[in-house]
Amino acid sequence: MGFLTGKQIILGITGSIAAYKAAELVRLLVKSGTRTRVVMTQGAQAFITPMTLQALSGNPVHTTILDEQAEAGMGHIELARWADTVVVAPASANFLARLAHGMADDLLSTLCLTTDAPIMVAPAMNQRMWINRQTQLNISHLGQSGITIMGPASGNQACGDIGPGRMLESDELASIIDNSFARHTLAGLKIIITAGGTREAIDTIRYIGNRSSGKMGFALANAAREAGAEVTLICGPVNLDTPSGVSRIDVETAKQMRQAVLNQISSHHILIGSAAVADYVPTAPYEGKIKKTCDNLSIELSPSIDIMQEVGQLQDKPFTVGFAAETENMDVYARDKMQRKNMDMIAANIVGLPDRGFEVDENAVDVYWSNGQKTLPLASKTKIARQLIALIGDRYRADTSRQIIA
Ligand code: C5P
Repeated sequence: MGFLTGKQIILGITGSIAAYKAAELVRLLVKSGTRTRVVMTQGAQAFITPMTLQALSGNPVHTTILDEQAEAGMGHIELARWADTVVVAPASANFLARLAHGMADDLLSTLCLTTDAPIMVAPAMNQRMWINRQTQLNISHLGQSGITIMGPASGNQACGDIGPGRMLESDELASIIDNSFARHTLAGLKIIITAGGTREAIDTIRYIGNRSSGKMGFALANAAREAGAEVTLICGPVNLDTPSGVSRIDVETAKQMRQAVLNQISSHHILIGSAAVADYVPTAPYEGKIKKTCDNLSIELSPSIDIMQEVGQLQDKPFTVGFAAETENMDVYARDKMQRKNMDMIAANIVGLPDRGFEVDENAVDVYWSNGQKTLPLASKTKIARQLIALIGDRYRADTSRQIIA
């Protein structure tokens, strides 16, 4: 195991005798470096106490959506957003039926309906309930909706029956969950990601900056790492933790970012330029502090070097993916930018709306390449990043002009 470190997991426990195995699963997840929060249905509490799971997870256990105190701490919407993955183990026949029908009548089902994190379920039930036609219809519906079904195993059951319906053992579940973060679509590839904004000195203490938070670039770095890539993150000043397993190079100005990219580029297969790099920089930054001595002050700006454009001209250029923030005519401007800068793909988003893009946690992008396009609708930057990385992996492989490494 190795992909669980730092991951935030919600473990939902529903009413089944297999609930006792969930205690061991929490222990394994915590031991592997996850932050785990447990949500229990009322049925689950008949089999195992919240106290046990609180002690093992190190976090308060969430049991009801109508508890004002709990909602004030971390409400169901926050929980849903917090999760990198929601795991339901054991998942009873009743819970699976409610999940398949989009019910939201308790905390766990509501959370599953709210989250845009992947959902994984580990069914546990009597073998007759498992083979029941309606349960099977529910399961196939859940599978088609993108929910991962883990197991069940076959064998002796608590009720004395023998057959399918036993929940997988906790170590098997932990290993499947670990693997789910390791979709190795980019295994063997080295990627540079630029992130955040740049700062250009006006004088010794003032600068021209922009509103980029770096969140999209950091989410991309995390997703690329999960996909098996070796990731170098070159970022402007940001207030974010480095994703685990990612090498980070901090820079401040467009010039430094360009130099860092050029120093690294020849050994990398892909460059993703998500940084908001200054287009114009002060022509002659003032040495010292500009004094407040005149009514008007003009600062002369000169164009800065366009990093993506320069990399696009390299003879042995890597596969390049740029970003375009537009306020109108997104497709026309984005495609034009992609051609001008000789990029292989471009991810474009509309800016100026309060719910997406700069500084917020969500985004929606339209991705273009020479003969195709895909829309990734509004979702968390984590989810958009995973989708974008999967798409970049597909396009990189589809590009027959390069040698396929993995
Ligand atoms: O032209 P515009 O700034 O909209 O292009 C955005 C794309 O170009 C992004 O991928 C950004 O990282 C990149 N860029 C760059 N160097 C600059 C300006 C933008 O690499 N000086």
